[in-house]
Amino acid sequence: MKSKNLRKIGVLTGGGDCPGLNAVIRAVTKTALYQYGLRVWGIEDGYEGLLDKRGHELTAEDVSGILTHGGTILGTSNTANPFYVPVIRGRKISYEDHSEKACRHFLEWELDGLIVIGGEGTLAIAQRLYEKGIPVVGIPKTIDNDLSETDYTFGFKTAVSIATDALDRLHTTGASHHRVMILEVMGRNAGWIALYAGTAGGADIILIPEIPFRLETVYNEVKHRAQSGKRFSLIIVAEGACEKGKSVVIRKKDKKNPYPVKLGGVANNLADKIEQATGIESRAAILGHIQRGGSPIPYDRNVGTLFGYYAVELMVEGKWGHMVSLDGQRIRSVSIKDAVRTIKKVPLNHPLIKAAQAVGTSFGV
Ligand code: F6P
Repeated sequence: MKSKNLRKIGVLTGGGDCPGLNAVIRAVTKTALYQYGLRVWGIEDGYEGLLDKRGHELTAEDVSGILTHGGTILGTSNTANPFYVPVIRGRKISYEDHSEKACRHFLEWELDGLIVIGGEGTLAIAQRLYEKGIPVVGIPKTIDNDLSETDYTFGFKTAVSIATDALDRLHTTGASHHRVMILEVMGRNAGWIALYAGTAGGADIILIPEIPFRLETVYNEVKHRAQSGKRFSLIIVAEGACEKGKSVVIRKKDKKNPYPVKLGGVANNLADKIEQATGIESRAAILGHIQRGGSPIPYDRNVGTLFGYYAVELMVEGKWGHMVSLDGQRIRSVSIKDAVRTIKKVPLNHPLIKAAQAVGTSFGV
C-alpha cells in the first residue's frame, strides 16, 4: 500500500559513525520500497550532501548485504551544519546560515520527507530544519548512549562489547607484568561505555564523568590491592572523567566541529601519576575509534532494523518532528525537540553502579 502524501523520501546519516547505521539504512530502504512503494534518496555525507546537493537513488540492490557491515554506505560528516557554514574570504573565515540552500535542495530533489539518523548534534540541526518546514523524522544513534528520551541508541552495546574485550586483554597482560593497566574509552561527557564495559570486564576502578574522582582514593585502592597480594590493577576511565575540582583533559579544540572540544589523554595522565605515587609500573591504552568501527553485534543489527522500519511508519503516519525511541522493550515516538534538550548522563543511583560497588569496584571517591 502506498501512502497518500509520500512518494519519495530522503535519508542521511550525520555525526560520528557507529555500528548499526547500515542496518538502519537497509531497513528504511526496504520498508519504504516493499511496504509503501516509495522511492528512497540517499543523501551523501550527512548535511554536507544536503548543502552540496549530493545524493542518489537507493534501490533494494544497493542495500542488499549491508546489514552486517560497519560504517555507513552513505558516508557522514560531523562538521557540516547548514546553519553554520564556514566561508573563507581572503584570510578571513566567517560562519553563515545556509539553511535556505539545504531546504531548496530538499525541494529540488522532490522529497516528501527526510529521515535523519544521528546523535544529539545532528538531531538538533534536524529540529531546526523541521522548524523551517522540512518534514523530518529522527533515528537516534551514538555509541555514547547519551541521547535523552530514549533508553537506548544503537551502537552502544557494540562499543561496550569492544571495550570489554580490550579490558579482558589488558587484564591478562597486566596480571603477567604486575602492572596497573588503564583503558580510556569514549563517551564524551557521559560514562555509559565505561560503566558497562568496566562492570562486565571486572575493572577494579571505574572512573566516569558523573562521579569526579579523587587521586588519593585511586592510589590507595591500587596500593591496597598490591598489599593484599593482587599485584596488578585494572582501571577503565571515560574520556570525560575528571578529578574532583579539576577540568576534563582536552586533546584538541576543533572550531569547525559542532563539538569543538575533543577529549582525550586522561588515561596517560593517570598512568604517570599512579606510577609516581605508588611505584607500580602503569600503562595506558586509548581505545579510540576502534569502538566505532566494524560489524555491529546482533542486538544492534536488530535495533537498527526496528528503528529503520518504525521511522518509515512514523513518516507514513505523518508524525513529523518525531524521533523513534526505545522505552524498555517498547518502541515509541518522542519529539526531537525534547530529545535534544539535554544529554542523558548516568544517574548516580544507577543499579549497575550499586552492584559494582557491592562487589568491591571503586569509583575513585
Ligand atoms: O560521539 C561519538 C564519539 O565517538 C565520542 O565518544 C567521541 O568523544 C567523539 O565522538 C570523537 O569524535 P571524532 O570522531 O570527531 O574524533
